[in-house]
Formats: sequence, C-alpha cells, structure tokens
Amino acid sequence: MAERNEAAMATTETGRTVRIAAVGDLHVREDAQASCRDLFGEVSREADVLVLTGDLTNLGKPREAEILAEDLRACAIPVVAVLGNHDYESGAVEDVAHILRQAGVHLLDGQTTEIKDVGFVGVKGFIGGFGSRMLGSFGEPAIKAMVAESVSESMRLENAMRQVRTERTLVVLHYAPVVETVAGEPLEIFPFLGSSRLAETIDRFKVSAVVHGHAHRGVYEGRTPGGAPVYNVAMHVAKPTGRPYALLEI
Ligand SMILES: [Fe+2]
Ligand SMILES: [Fe+2]
Repeated sequence: MAERNEAAMATTETGRTVRIAAVGDLHVREDAQASCRDLFGEVSREADVLVLTGDLTNLGKPREAEILAEDLRACAIPVVAVLGNHDYESGAVEDVAHILRQAGVHLLDGQTTEIKDVGFVGVKGFIGGFGSRMLGSFGEPAIKAMVAESVSESMRLENAMRQVRTERTLVVLHYAPVVETVAGEPLEIFPFLGSSRLAETIDRFKVSAVVHGHAHRGVYEGRTPGGAPVYNVAMHVAKPTGRPYALLEI
C-alpha cells in the first residue's frame, strides 16, 4: 500500500508516474478452461496501462482472438500490444490484428502511441542470436532472408523510435533484445529467442524500459549494453509482483 501511495505522489518532468502492467504469452486457446477476465479486472485496479508482449493467441486463429477480445471487456485501462510468432501460425494474422484493434487494443507493429505522457513503441522483433554469435548474412539465400528479416525488424523499431515525442518511452517487443533475460531456456534455442540487433537500435535512443516475452523459461530482469532496463514479462516467468504480470512505474 505504501508503495502505491508513493507512486501516486511521484512526479516526473512531464507528469505523474505511470503504472504499467505488462504480461506476455497469454496463448489464448479456443478450448481454454480459464479466462483472462479476472486478470484483466485485477490489472485495471493496479495499473494505468496494460501492455501485452505478444503470443496473444496460441495458434493465431481468429476465434482465439475473439475470445481474448471478449475477455478484454473486463479491462478498464488502455491496452497496448504487439503480436508474437504464435499469432502468425494460422496465416490469419490480419484477421487476428483486426479483431484486436476493433476491441480497442493499440496494436503496434512498427508504430508508436502516446498514452498519459508515455510513448509506447512496439515491434515484434525476430530471431538471430546474441552478441558476437549473432547469425550473419552469409551463405544460402534462406539464411540471408532470415538475417534480413531480423535487420528489417530493427529498422522498423528505429523508425518508430524516431516518432517518439515524449520524455518517457517504453519499448514493447515479443522477442528478447538481450541474452540475459533468456537465461534458463535450453542453450540450444537461445538464437531463436531474440536478437541483439534490437538492443543495438534501442541503445541509440533514451528509453525508460523495454519489455518482451517469448522466453517462457527465461528470467525477469536484464539490461541492454547501453544500460536500458529490460524485463521478460512472459506470464510463466517469476516476477516481483508474485503475479503473472509485472508492474513498472515510469
Ligand atoms: Fe509464447
Ligand atoms: Fe513466442
């Protein structure tokens, strides 16, 4: 309770602290036994904005998106989201995106949106690996296409960052920008969990924090080489809140 009072009183140059609830990898299924409705009701009482970091649906089916959209009616605060790889699985990503936008979600795919004096910048990101071991553009066209996709996502992030006009910025990704927050996953799949190219782009700007999902067995906290805080908010990852979502105050 004391923490919440402090948050309410804290101010920044541009306004009061904004409380952001962030969670990824809901993987909503058609045959879901449990609904997200109670969770969305809870975050509406705890936070000013809800951020969803991709894998919103389990197989990218429009029906799954409809179930999520219905559950989001219990959410009384603005919702910002990016898509994840699972949202592409059924080849119906445009339908999934349309359903979520119709439900009022600020679905970001290389754009920025401003809510309560915070700039939210969102892009899905892509695979490719980390640091000096990142996959390079060499050899077969298929490898080069993969690297090109990774570079393209970073460039789209950069273009979106350039649109930000706010003092505070939250970067929203699905894939990890640093290796630290995927620790705990099998080593063999690290290159499929994200790409340092995202962190290289992030570090060219001033950002308040970065959130991502995708690495279900990763860890909560990391940092870009330039010092930006990074949080893996996949719902399976243990967080200081003890809840499936993280609470950030920026
Ligand atoms: Fe996931
Ligand atoms: Fe994923």
